[in-house]
Amino acid sequence: MEHESGTASGSASGAVVRPLVRGRRDGDLEDCVRALAEVHRRDGYPVNWPAEPAAWLSPPSLLAAWVAELDGRVVGHIGLCGSGPGDAAPALWGSRQGGEGGATAVVSRLFVAPVARGQGIGALLVRGAVQDARGRALQPVLDVVASDAAALALYERLGWEALGTVEQRWGPGQTVAVRCFAAPPSASLD
Ligand SMILES: CC(C)(COP(=O)(O)OP(=O)(O)OC[C@H]1O[C@@H](n2cnc3c(N)ncnc32)[C@H](O)[C@@H]1OP(=O)(O)O)[C@@H](O)C(=O)NCCC(=O)NCCS
Repeated sequence: MEHESGTASGSASGAVVRPLVRGRRDGDLEDCVRALAEVHRRDGYPVNWPAEPAAWLSPPSLLAAWVAELDGRVVGHIGLCGSGPGDAAPALWGSRQGGEGGATAVVSRLFVAPVARGQGIGALLVRGAVQDARGRALQPVLDVVASDAAALALYERLGWEALGTVEQRWGPGQTVAVRCFAAPPSASLD
């Protein structure tokens, strides 16, 4: 996946710039962690700051990851993971389909740096990850912390279907409500 789209915006030089989404390279991780730290400070995502943020961006189940660049700067990130036995959204999708829903992939690690928001970059990243999952014959699903209002609005805007809400225990005394979603059929993506 490498394409330009999203809303054009002005650069420092006054030229019109459009976001570019491309596959993540090892050399991007430092910039991704820097942007993630800003997102964590501002939005509390991720809820618990990981001890090794670069490793958190590359979980063992990762199938692929992409970054969004704006004016040559990494400003956004998304990953696609294989689903595991304990994952909430794949389980809800499976039970809803009565075991006939096929394999799933979990869209995860989505964030856009505060400076680059509201330009369609989050939507661009999600659409690309969905397209990739479909290409692997996997149904895209995801879970999102119920208080992440912007992310919820984004998934609803893109037509994702709510599968249910699950309470998860993330640590001693920490229970988090997560909402699970499934991507709409590809025909209704645009
Ligand atoms: C969620 C997030 C990725 C959205 O990124 P973004 O690039 O600003 O989103 P987009 O510009 O593509 O928005 C697309 C649509 O989503 C909705 N949306 C996005 N942010 C919104 C907000 N703050 N309030 C209301 N709706 C919002 C809108 O419908 C928007 O379409 P519109 O601009 O035509 O109205 C970004 O806010 C973020 O990084 N949040 C913190 C991290 C996070 O919660 N990640 C999700 C983990 S599951």
